[in-house]
Amino acid sequence: MTQHVRSNWANAVLVCAKCSKKLDGGFGPKGKAPLAKALRKELGLKKGRKGAAGVVEVKCLGVCPRGAVTVVNGAQAREWLIVPEGADVAELAAELGLPTPE
Ligand code: FES
Repeated sequence: MTQHVRSNWANAVLVCAKCSKKLDGGFGPKGKAPLAKALRKELGLKKGRKGAAGVVEVKCLGVCPRGAVTVVNGAQAREWLIVPEGADVAELAAELGLPTPE
């Protein structure tokens, strides 16, 4: 009975929106972009399900670190990541195993 919708996502990454909001930016070249946005830009991802991977902002995940953002890698959901403010987004993308643009 369930309908299916195809996506191009190789992976889904969940980024805590509340952590991101608390930092008021903190990532990217100028340190002003929220983590999800900086990650999407780094990977050159298209919007929504057309993208090669999904970076989705979600509600508070209940970890609430100080000066960092909680991130769940859908491919390795057993261990979550605490990404400190100003972390290198390219390194994070590699750690998450996300496809980088050629
Ligand atoms: S505010 Fe991000 S995990 Fe709670």
